[in-house]
Amino acid sequence: MTRTLKPGPAMHAEGAPPGVAPPAIAVEDIVKRYGDFEAVKKVNFQVADGEIFGLLGPNGAGKSTLIRMMTTLIPVTSGRALVGGHDVSKEANAVRRMIGVIPQALTSDQDLTVEENLSIYAKLYSVPRAEREKNINEVLEAVDLAKWRGAQTKTLSGGMRRRLEIARGLVHDPRIFFLDEPTTGLDPVSRIAVWEMLNNLKKTRSLTMLLTTHYMEEADRLCDRIAIVDHGTLVALGTPVELKQSVPGSNVVEVQFAREWDEWPARLGQLTGVTDVQSQSAGVYRVLTSNGSQTTTQLVEMATSLGEQLTSLSVQNTSLDDVFVHYTGRQLRDEQIKPVNFIMPPRPGAQP
Ligand SMILES: Nc1ncnc2c1ncn2[C@@H]1O[C@H](COP(=O)(O)OP(=O)(O)O)[C@@H](O)[C@H]1O
Ligand SMILES: [Mg+2]
Repeated sequence: MTRTLKPGPAMHAEGAPPGVAPPAIAVEDIVKRYGDFEAVKKVNFQVADGEIFGLLGPNGAGKSTLIRMMTTLIPVTSGRALVGGHDVSKEANAVRRMIGVIPQALTSDQDLTVEENLSIYAKLYSVPRAEREKNINEVLEAVDLAKWRGAQTKTLSGGMRRRLEIARGLVHDPRIFFLDEPTTGLDPVSRIAVWEMLNNLKKTRSLTMLLTTHYMEEADRLCDRIAIVDHGTLVALGTPVELKQSVPGSNVVEVQFAREWDEWPARLGQLTGVTDVQSQSAGVYRVLTSNGSQTTTQLVEMATSLGEQLTSLSVQNTSLDDVFVHYTGRQLRDEQIKPVNFIMPPRPGAQP
């Protein structure tokens, strides 16, 4: 079941009253079946004009399948998708003219220069000769590759190549931009450069963007709204803030005790503000709380009075990770946040 925290604009592309912009994308009960396997199960959402919308989910969730249906690359099994007001199944060509697509795999031609890669695409999309050069210059500026226009693509770093592919997806001036895992495989510095670039694009062009990611931080930083997808189903939808607020507790205390003990969950559950205690591994707990500082203080006092040692302790704000765990019961963690180590001095005479 989808828990729609905040429904998108209620209007369908067809029948929208005058003065109300129809959504850029409307997906209605869309299903994709591969043989007996249902990869996408009756998904519904709408993306407003100008919005950056994120599909967040682990590998195999169905994100690429959703993008492939919305971009006319694979047929829809049932339900429908309207992109720019056009039905992807009935008006594929009209849809293709409005969209730019960055597929998950890198597809620029290694043996061509940066400019040649863009120029081929501009021709493929029948961009008139007079506009071609202007568009190429603009997109090269937008992705900060202008001084590399003559470079062979194979000499570019992974991050630069991603930026080239983003430029290529924009060279025919699409209204709606689909990006499938735009930063997967990039090092952290290149990833942040791509995020900044996408943010700039949002400010300077009237683009609607739909991107998929399994990076929580990416979704959090870039997206106006996020749909969490798991096993082909949409499990939650809202702004990053709404999603975080929908999870009980506003802080997460991560604690590791030196000693395993069956009673830790119950003891932790009694501390002020605690709304949930999740067991991670031996002696390691994630404690959701509405009052991080008070819970932490009491936790340290409790451990001290019991003569127990903490191996580590950290306090964080609720993250989209917690949202994911809340809605799916599973962890979606790509990079662990390094906890601040907090070593308790052993009490004299305490049991090891
Ligand atoms: N052509 C296909 N034939 C059969 N199964 C597929 C095909 N493409 C994808 N799948 C399956 O559909 C599910 C969703 O895949 P995908 O949309 O690629 O997930 P994601 O992009 O979220 O990682 C996976 O279980 C995948 O194995
Ligand atoms: Mg994928």
